[in-house]
Amino acid sequence: MNINKLLSSMTLEEKIGQMIQLPPRNFIIDSDTDVIGNEYDLGLDLDQIYTTGSILGIGSATEMKEIQTKYLESSRLKIPLIFMADIVHGYETIFPIPLALSCSWNEKLAFDTARISAVEAATSGIHVTFAPMADLSRDPRWGRVLEGFGEDTYLLSRFTESMVKGFQQNDVSLKGNIASCVKHFVGYGAPIAGRDYNTVDMSKLSLYQDYIGGYKSAIEAGAKLVMSSFNTFDGIPVTVNENLMVEVLREKLGFEGVTITDFDGLNQVIAHRVAENQREAAVLGVKAKIDIEMASTCYIDNIVQLISDQRISIKEIDEAVMRILRLKSQLGLFSNPFSFANEEDEKLLVRSSNHLENAKEIASECAVLLKNEKQILPLKEGLKIALIGPFATETKTNGAWSWRGNNYKNVTLFEALTTNGYNVDIIDYLNEQIEDQLSKVDVVICALGEHQDDSGEAKSKVNLELPDRQVKWIDFAKKSNKKVITVLYNGRPLVLNNIDNSDAILEAWFLGSKTNETIVDILTGKINPSGKLTMSFPRHVGQIPVYYNQLTTGRPRLDQSNPYTSFYLDCGNTPKYSFGFGLSYSNFIYGNILINKKYMTKKDTIQVSIDVKNTSSIGGYEIVQLYIRDEVSIIARPEKELKRYKKIWIDPNITETIQFTLSVKDLYYKNPKDESKIESGVFTILIGPNSTNLHSTKINFQ
Ligand code: GLC
Repeated sequence: MNINKLLSSMTLEEKIGQMIQLPPRNFIIDSDTDVIGNEYDLGLDLDQIYTTGSILGIGSATEMKEIQTKYLESSRLKIPLIFMADIVHGYETIFPIPLALSCSWNEKLAFDTARISAVEAATSGIHVTFAPMADLSRDPRWGRVLEGFGEDTYLLSRFTESMVKGFQQNDVSLKGNIASCVKHFVGYGAPIAGRDYNTVDMSKLSLYQDYIGGYKSAIEAGAKLVMSSFNTFDGIPVTVNENLMVEVLREKLGFEGVTITDFDGLNQVIAHRVAENQREAAVLGVKAKIDIEMASTCYIDNIVQLISDQRISIKEIDEAVMRILRLKSQLGLFSNPFSFANEEDEKLLVRSSNHLENAKEIASECAVLLKNEKQILPLKEGLKIALIGPFATETKTNGAWSWRGNNYKNVTLFEALTTNGYNVDIIDYLNEQIEDQLSKVDVVICALGEHQDDSGEAKSKVNLELPDRQVKWIDFAKKSNKKVITVLYNGRPLVLNNIDNSDAILEAWFLGSKTNETIVDILTGKINPSGKLTMSFPRHVGQIPVYYNQLTTGRPRLDQSNPYTSFYLDCGNTPKYSFGFGLSYSNFIYGNILINKKYMTKKDTIQVSIDVKNTSSIGGYEIVQLYIRDEVSIIARPEKELKRYKKIWIDPNITETIQFTLSVKDLYYKNPKDESKIESGVFTILIGPNSTNLHSTKINFQ
């Protein structure tokens, strides 16, 4: 298709139509996957509806074909629709939530998750996914931390890059590939007070040093679309922020693809009180080079008049429409409007046993063992277990943003335990005979957490503790001299002081379609847990934001007796569980760091190595982490920054030598002008199993 020729043959109304995305109900009523529900009527007439360029959300090949057919029959130029949807951590086979995925420290799992999700979604005719979410966040009050990959830019960049490659591979027109729309550009993960959609107020230093990295890596990996975020930045809604959407995204990062607002995002510029009405919002959107307006009508209702009033130019519209047509061409839609929508493939591939097995293998690396007193885990066979808590028989374990996943097909923890041969008593905490029941069991498992609908979009919280009605059974069981294992189901870091009485704590997150089978394989030792935290767990919500790569401050809390230092009267400074922390059933001992040179110039690389020995009789994965600290520089630098990690299997009683190569690129920092800077001086290299237990050595950069 010659898209230049096509563009020149389009009327202005047809061009503008390409710039709006509509929910499917405008074409088929009662779609079972309608993302919003029928109350959302945009008031468009049929002519306008049949010029639209893309659809938000469909759930089957039949639906896609029905809509595409109806549309093409009525479209003058037969420009096919693009179908986009939120395939965040699975289509119908659901994988661990992205925050759990990141705790595997194995970005190949992110690639595999995206790969299988794309294969399934493509059978239903979906062309674009609104994923990965590249938002860094240090604030677990924000309910969307589950959709991201934690608090560290280096790690989350590896994961966003892998997801984009998993969705797209090398050619989005090929069967089983879908285009990636990375979101939510930019800074959405840092809303003031952790309240979703709230103002974001950060320095350009923070933006370039921490928050932009994930989007940058996704764009470098070839993401075809970028979604703008709901928040303001420098007081301007990002969706109409020309500095960010044009100068930073398109000029500095070199993004040439399609930009799309978040849901109703352009219309919300009015609520931000940065546009008086939809007409003014439309002008700002065009100036910010926003190509597609999702689910609102600023463009379609105003651009014709704005052009005749010479407020915007037809050239600006042509540029936007050309980017959309180019995406449709890259997706192969002109030659094959139905792409690979195929009911037979759906039956064969969607939620196939192979995919479910893959989901279980991936989940096995994502849970984090936070506590295991006296090696109470793994469980011995044949134990009589008391199972207490809201997740004992819960099947809703897919986690948020898994709208096509069927929770009711999931196995409960009770079922997974009993099919593994355990004798399990479910204790209903309203039961009067609870003491009698507890006296007859060997161990108590408390299945606790937050409902999967309590995290995700618009799910901010100020209280991150588990409710008393859940945790009181831990203390109750301990009074009965029973060992207690607490399993946590949650979409965000929680404040866990009130489960300290547990003998073991397994952070299981929401692991998707195979959550409870995976948990039981870990509890019974079939899987040796290897996950490590990628977000700090605060001691108290008042500490937030608390994260590992903070600055030292001018009055660091080094001397507990000095009152004039940076600390709280009523809480420690450190998180309860730190970034990079996670236990294993193995035991890993670290040797000293060896480096091949003490002095380094811009031209050099440095070889760093460390021996790690598994002194246990259980083989397992260890995640070896390398951090650096720039001891003195023009801009205050973090106490430490993750620069490398390696996940390695170590057999019992074996020592492995882990090697890293560092170059000057690993020592640079970004200044507020986004320039990479370095000064000569001492750098400390730190290596260990987490961000607090580290061996170190120094090098001199000249
Ligand atoms: C939502 C979310 C965004 C999602 C979009 C489409 O408001 O913010 O992440 O992709 O709408 O469902």
